[in-house]
Amino acid sequence: MGQLDGKVAVVTGGASGIGAGTVRRFVAEGAQVLIADLDEAGGTAMADELGDGVAYLATDVSREEQVAAMIAEATDLFGRLDCLFNNAGFGGALGPIATTTVADYDLTMDVLLKSVFLGMKHAAPVMVEQGSGSIISTASVAGIRAGYAPHLYSVAKCGVIHLTKTVALELGEDNVRVNAICPGFIATPLAAGHPDADQERIQKMRDRTARAQVLGRVGEASDIAAMALFLASDESQWITGQEFVVDGGFAAGPPWSRWPEFSRSERPIRHHRPPDR
Ligand code: NAI
Repeated sequence: MGQLDGKVAVVTGGASGIGAGTVRRFVAEGAQVLIADLDEAGGTAMADELGDGVAYLATDVSREEQVAAMIAEATDLFGRLDCLFNNAGFGGALGPIATTTVADYDLTMDVLLKSVFLGMKHAAPVMVEQGSGSIISTASVAGIRAGYAPHLYSVAKCGVIHLTKTVALELGEDNVRVNAICPGFIATPLAAGHPDADQERIQKMRDRTARAQVLGRVGEASDIAAMALFLASDESQWITGQEFVVDGGFAAGPPWSRWPEFSRSERPIRHHRPPDR
């Protein structure tokens, strides 16, 4: 028996990286899934490969009419909506604040934050009517700490976390749960610096950043899919309004081996002597 038997999910950004890993895990656990993504070739190929119970809809998550159509498509095809995973994203605007244009700002916020607002807005009525549902959004460790990503990406992800909490307070009354996942470095095209990054480039990213990870390796899409599965399943039925950091320990601090003054066992212990009595 799968953990998502009988459940229906929409996964945005489901044609690549974290989204694709989550689609595969959800399907393996018995869910029917609608992949909503800009990438028509990738999304169609995945839906064809995974067979009955998986469909693809070309969707730009920053456009309200397309997000509304995405939710309608899921309920038309599969009859209900148990989980929306707001996951699509990109790196957003790069560079100093003084040279960031308003157009850069708008595009970054539209794709990373407005999309989450739109997903919640259009999924909520369906889930409230059903009396159940789980909305999950991909934020980032960059949304809880400055310095991990460019300005606007970080701010958008911070917004995703706070929107998660405010909407959770409203929808909890109708048994609709709303949570966010904050991934650390995950080996995907996005983290490798380009949406079309090939496996060689992704492997270089793995090798380059493994030593900065407390658990000695970067994350894989399957690490985030495991958390998404937990939040989509009934195992998390008393959990809402939270952000879950899944980062191999990255946000906790640097690996122990990077602090030789703490980790060398031969270092003498110095302490103040208690006063003589
Ligand atoms: P990815 O580049 O592998 O996948 C992103 C997917 O989103 C692609 O299939 C792309 O076509 C789709 N997409 C982009 N803009 C879209 C739009 N406007 N409408 C519909 N689909 C769109 O990237 P990855 O790493 O899987 O990213 C997934 C989410 O995880 C993003 O929200 C990203 O910000 C977040 N994240 C990723 C981290 C990482 O290290 N890879 C770390 C923290 C957060």
